[in-house]
Amino acid sequence: MNKVSTERKKLNLVDFQRMKAKNEMVAWITSYDMPFAYSAEQAGIDMILVGDSGGMVQLGYQTTNPVSMDEMITLAKAVRRGAPNTFVIGDMPQGSYEVGDKEAIQNALRFVKEAGCDAIKLEGGKRMCSRVRAITDAGILVMGHLGLTPQSTSSFGGYRVQGKTVESFEKTLEDAFALQEAGIFSLLLEAMPSEPSGQIRKQLKVPVYGIGAGQYVDGQLIIMHDLMGFYQSFRPWFTKCYIPCVVKEFEQYISSITDIRKCGTEERTDGLLVLATMAIKRYIDEVKEGKFPQEEFSYPLKEADLEKLKSSKAWKLN
Ligand code: KIV
Repeated sequence: MNKVSTERKKLNLVDFQRMKAKNEMVAWITSYDMPFAYSAEQAGIDMILVGDSGGMVQLGYQTTNPVSMDEMITLAKAVRRGAPNTFVIGDMPQGSYEVGDKEAIQNALRFVKEAGCDAIKLEGGKRMCSRVRAITDAGILVMGHLGLTPQSTSSFGGYRVQGKTVESFEKTLEDAFALQEAGIFSLLLEAMPSEPSGQIRKQLKVPVYGIGAGQYVDGQLIIMHDLMGFYQSFRPWFTKCYIPCVVKEFEQYISSITDIRKCGTEERTDGLLVLATMAIKRYIDEVKEGKFPQEEFSYPLKEADLEKLKSSKAWKLN
């Protein structure tokens, strides 16, 4: 396996803007621990999100709501140790930013000072603009998160695809503009069909990324445990497990090793770390080449619904 992390400079805000300008896709992933963060960096990932999804896939809660700030800091510290040369974003858990600007700044600072994160992410639109301003004024980069926002699923009536109706699209676009105005450096859209998320991407100056938001965005996020097929409870519709794509490559690699016991005495090169790195690398390649996500992994939109969206005054054709 080739090491990449030592040769690679950590990407920053300017790189992400440049990549948007050049239509170069950003490939990123969630991570919650040291070994998988290490694998992601070795594979050449552009950025890592320490998501509060870790509360479910790593800590075993039923939803993301119980995750505490202290738990998030522990996960983020481990990720930073595993991926010292990667742009890492800490995800503000429920309860860490809703109460007021002051609490939000304090908790965002914890991600930066204690865990060495490069930015934070928070959920919500207009109602969160004051938080975004306060945290950016404190010198911390903020990523916005719209569409399906898991911390407030009850207000959507459950896990529902967003942006399909004119009302939902216009509301999301309005929220996106408000967040941009408030100072976010980028935006994540979750669970939307490709066309409305592509529209939002087209109209915003900041990079717009997607998870389950189709192919017309500036980059793709995937949950580590979905990519690995490592979470037992369910598999979201839009995710792809990459292990089946690389097993043959892994088999070939492992069978080429003559003495497995001598393999990787300085650095482990005989097992899951290699397989995981291969799988993440394949995901990165597919994102960069525009092969993931194609329609199979995108939410469908009926022709009639698309026509209605196109009739919105907020829809720009070119
Ligand atoms: O926590 C997380 O991983 C997230 C993604 C689902 C977008 O916020």
